[in-house]
Formats: sequence, C-alpha cells, structure tokens
Amino acid sequence: MLKKWFFLLIIAIVTGKSFSQSPTWSNDVAKIIYGNCTSCHRTGGIAPFNLETYEDVSAMAGWVQQAIETKSMPPWTPNPDYKHFAHERVLPSTDISTIQNWVAAGTPSGNLNIAPPIPIYANGTQLGTPDISLSITPYSITSANDVYRNFELFVGSTQATNITAIEVIPGNPGIVHHVLVFQDSTSNPINTAGAGGTGSSASQLLYSYVPGASPYFTPVGTGFRLAPNTRIILQIHYAPGSNGLTDNTIVNFKTNNNNLRKITVDAALNHFNMTDGPLVIPANQLKTFHSELQIPENVTVLYAFPHMHLLGKSIHTWANKPISGDSVRFVKIPDWNFHWQDNFIFPNAIVLPIGTTIKAEAVYDNRDTNPNNPTIPPVTVTAGEETVDEMFLVFFAYMPFQSGDQYLIIDKRIFAKGATNFCGGQSVRLETIAGDGYSYQWLKDGASITGATNYFYNAFETGNYTVSITLGPNNVVSDPTLVTVSDAPVAQILTPSTTAIPEGGTVTLAGQAGVGYLYQWYLNGNVILGATSSTFDATYFGEYTLEVFNGNCYSISEPLVMTGGVAQTNEIAGQTEFLVFPNPAEDLLSIKLNDDLCGKRILVQDVTGNTLQMLTIEKSIVQIDVHELSQGIYFVSIIDENNSVLFKKKVILR
Ligand code: HEC
Repeated sequence: MLKKWFFLLIIAIVTGKSFSQSPTWSNDVAKIIYGNCTSCHRTGGIAPFNLETYEDVSAMAGWVQQAIETKSMPPWTPNPDYKHFAHERVLPSTDISTIQNWVAAGTPSGNLNIAPPIPIYANGTQLGTPDISLSITPYSITSANDVYRNFELFVGSTQATNITAIEVIPGNPGIVHHVLVFQDSTSNPINTAGAGGTGSSASQLLYSYVPGASPYFTPVGTGFRLAPNTRIILQIHYAPGSNGLTDNTIVNFKTNNNNLRKITVDAALNHFNMTDGPLVIPANQLKTFHSELQIPENVTVLYAFPHMHLLGKSIHTWANKPISGDSVRFVKIPDWNFHWQDNFIFPNAIVLPIGTTIKAEAVYDNRDTNPNNPTIPPVTVTAGEETVDEMFLVFFAYMPFQSGDQYLIIDKRIFAKGATNFCGGQSVRLETIAGDGYSYQWLKDGASITGATNYFYNAFETGNYTVSITLGPNNVVSDPTLVTVSDAPVAQILTPSTTAIPEGGTVTLAGQAGVGYLYQWYLNGNVILGATSSTFDATYFGEYTLEVFNGNCYSISEPLVMTGGVAQTNEIAGQTEFLVFPNPAEDLLSIKLNDDLCGKRILVQDVTGNTLQMLTIEKSIVQIDVHELSQGIYFVSIIDENNSVLFKKKVILR
C-alpha cells in the first residue's frame, strides 16, 4: 500500500535583504497565509488554487487583497461584529492591513531562506483511536456541476451510547466541499440525490464539516445520545469540477457508555412555528419570514446552525428573555451562502431561562437577479427537501440547564496556526478557546511561562506546550502540542594543518561538529558526490565549501582555498544540477534544482522501482514530506519529456 504523500513546494532563492519598513513575505505575510488560508489553499485542498509559496501568493496578490478586504475569504458567513464563535475564520484587521501594505510595497519577499515552513496537515484521524468508524462505499462523481448526495451508514450497534467527539475525514479533500452528519433512527427512505434535507424528516443534525474544520468535542461530561441500531446519514456536497473523481469519506466517533448529560440537537425553529408562514415564496419576490418558540424549561445552548437553500438571502436568530425582554444574540448572517454552512459554536454556553422566546428572521430572494436561483424564470417555491424547494430551519444543540453551566469550558484544545517544526528565529502562534471570563496560563514542559496569560502564545522554543484554562470554578489543562525548533547549524571549515596539498598526498579538511548535523562538501561550487561526513580528504586544488544541515535548517561555510594537489576530475564534479538533502532524511526531503530543469519532472521510486510520486518541477527547491514513508532506500530521478532519466540520486530515509 502506498503511503500518502504531501508535496510542498517552496522556493529558496536568496534575495537581497530589504531594509525598508514594509512588510515582507518572510517576516509578516507567510504566517498570516499559513494560519488562515493553506488549510484549503494547498495541494489536494478544496480551494481551486494553492496559496503555499511566495510565488503563489505574490502572483495573485491583488486578488488576495480584494478577497480579504471584501471578507469573502477566509469563508465565514456570520457577522463577527454581532457575535464571535469558537474557531471562527475571521482575519484580524491588523492582518488585513499588513497584506494591504505588503501589496502596496510591491509584495517584497524578504529573505526567503528565513520564511516559515509550510504547515503540514493531518490526513489521518485526530481522535486517537475512534470507537466507531463508518465509511461510504466509494462514490464516483459523474457531473461537472455541484453534486449533493446523501449516504446511509448503519452503525450496527445494538447498545445505546453517547457520542463525545465527531470527525469527518474527506476521502478526497480536493472535492469534498462540505459534509452534514445526521443521525436517524427511523427506517424512513432517504433521498440519495439532492441537497437540503436527507429525505427523512426525522433526521437529527449532529455536526457539519467544512474543509479545515477540526473534530467537534462535546464539553466534558456531556454527549449526544447514539440510539441502538441507528443509522448515520452523511450529506456530502462535491464541488464543481469533481467529474470522474472518486470519494470515500469517513465519519469517526468517540463514544462513552457512562451516564453523560445528553445534548439534544433539534431544529427548534422550523416551518411549524413560523408567525407569518407558511413558507411560500412567490416568483419574482423578495420575502421575509419569522419564526419563534417559547422555551418550556431552562436550557443551556452550545451551538446554532441556521439552514436555508439557494434562495436564502440573510438569516438572523436571537432570543428575548422573559420579563426583561433582554435580547440574547445567536447568529446573524447578512449574506447567506449555501456553500458555507457551519455549526456556530458559542465560546460561552448560553443559558436561557424558561419562558425565553427564541426567534429567527429569514429573507428569501426569488427574483431572477439572484444568481443562485435554481429556477429561471422563477416559480413559486414552497418548503421541501429538494434543492429547488426551500427551508427555514435553525438547529440548536442544547441541554436542560444545570447550575454552573455558564462556566462550561467549551473546548480545551490547542490549535497551531502554522508549522510546529521550524528553524531557530521563527515562532508559531498557538491558540485556544477565546471567550468571556476565561483566563489562561501557558506552560512549557509543565512549567508556567511567565506572562503567558492570553488565549494565544507565540512559541519560539522547543517544548511540549499546554495551557491551563479557567472559567469561574472550572479549570482544565489542554492536551500537549509539541513544537520543535531546529537551530541553524554552524557551518565552518576548521583551519587545516596546511592549505597546500603535498604532491600525491591529501589534507584532511574538517567541519565544525554538532549534534545531529549532516554535511555536504563542495568543490568550486559543485557537489562532491559521497562527501557527506564531517571530514573530507582533499586531493584536488580549488575552493572548498561545506554545507551543514540540521533538521530543516542549513548554513553554508565560508570558502577555503586549497592549492597543490591535482585538478578536479569530472567524476567528482558531481551533479550540481540537482541536490537532495538532508540525506539521510527523516521528515522533510529537500530537492534543490538548477533553473534549467524547470518543466522537467521529479520521479520518486522505491528500490523495487515502484513509482511513488511524479511531479513537474516549478520551483528551484521542492520539499517533500516523507515522515510517513517507511525507512529504507529510495531513488529520486529527474526525467525529461521522453521519460529518459537525466539524473538519479539515492536517498536514505530513517
Ligand atoms: C475553508 C476553506 C478556505 C479557506 C480557509 C480560505 N479559502 Fe479562499 N477559497 C476557498 C474556495 C473553496 C474557493 C473557491 C470559491 C468558493 O468556493 O468560494 C476560494 C476562493 C478564493 C479566492 C478567489 C476569489 C474569491 O473571493 O472567491 C481568493 C483570492 C482566495 N480564496 C483567497 C483566500 C485567502 C487569502 C485566504 C486566507 C486569508 C483564504 N482564501 C482562505 C476556500 C478557502
């Protein structure tokens, strides 16, 4: 079985150092893009193009600027001035102005050698070992348009239990645009093709996945009840351009048989409690509807999920408390986008007293000027399960209130907004839940970090980071996140006994030693094949340099000129066109290429000649994530249009 490869392309052309005050890619912009965009805009990601390298982003800088100024990217439909949510995809205004200034200054790269590395995204489960794992049977898309599909998966367990975590792993992350996870214990037939509903009105929505979303964990001590002999229905939206491709998306659950508090997910606002229903949207009209419900008990609300179809224009949901009439904000989506549906998780649980009225206002645009209108010329549209029908639903995840619920710690995970493996001098922003009344203490290897009491921490040293989160009387410590910082190695050729090589003899050159260092010697700028230890016996005259690797970081020594000896031969001139390092490699393999190899291809094979990957050379340095490959010997070749091997190198992975 072939392991999955992620290819990361970066360029590493040393450019002149810029002394101006303008933001640069290396210092300022890369970390914004890696923290907010590459979860989707990466090789194999859902977005239609990559934003991974300096070249990618600078080439479309104007477009990027426009997308972030208009707030169309990152995709996030709720108005953040109305309410903030856990894990919201909102770019802070300081980041927007950094990108504006960077574009205005002509997108300076800065020193690309010190740019942060591209983050690597988990492609397996993040639940440890899931207790229930269900996969759709591989499904091949046979349309060039948006495709919506409902898949029925049988849990097969006769025992009731509680779900404490839900995760969706897209089988084909390049085409899975979103996934809604429903539970349905009835035997109602489902509608396999079609958006909107599942076809069964009894389906209970549990979770919604969009690319880059993390698994959902219920607050400690709570869970969704999983009925015996139930089924899970996945509604998957495949993006346009998926024609001919296959998907086998997986949904994973963590379960717990203890007697947990039960979270109910219910479309509490729906077609039946409309105050100005029924949901009939006449052709060529813009129409507003309202729905409300007075709640019969004290409840604690965890998240809200508004749902409409393609005519939806805006939706706003809130509550009015009894007596005082005080308004409680849920979600306001000023510009509904059917393609970006989410469950919006409140960073603080919302406690509603009995008698509170929950409300929603939804606007539908059934005119031919609505570019999403599925029926042109418009026809009268009513409530229904089909994409061309409409819906007015707001799902809420809630529990009967218990005292102290306002102090529920909603999430205790740490999210790294960038690579956690980098060279000295860089940092990674670690973030945890942000909300009202929370206080924090970050720890490194179990010891408190002085002054690190915000919801984020910029880690710049190797260590296991945790954060202790306090809200009212509650306190939890997060799981650890490992950050590995590699020091840029010292590259130095120690002064030899003599720089004059005696006739017929050698002079041993030695590099400054260091723990974990890997070496490559050069003569006159050419790789000396096989010269990869800390010492080298020089027999040739010329200018020697030593390149030293430490993890992903490397340095090049000052040159040392040797005289005497003999002239360099062709065999040792080596293949400067193409350099693979470090070798042996552990996590990342870098391939440095001469510019004239652009357009040729890199072929990676195992010892038996199986092709593991082939990719076209676009950049002067290609980085390959190899940490999932087993130890052993591999070959990296450069091949031309006729598949003739131009160069070939052996690489050892350990
Ligand atoms: C959750 C996934 C996701 C994230 C995160 C994301 N994008 Fe996108 N982006 C997309 C998809 C998918 C498209 C294609 C159009 C669509 O479906 O909306 C897109 C389209 C774009 C476009 C094309 C123009 C447009 O507005 O549609 C630009 C530019 C863009 N993204 C920039 C960015 C930048 C910059 C960031 C980070 C600040 C970012 N995106 C974050 C998924 C994402």
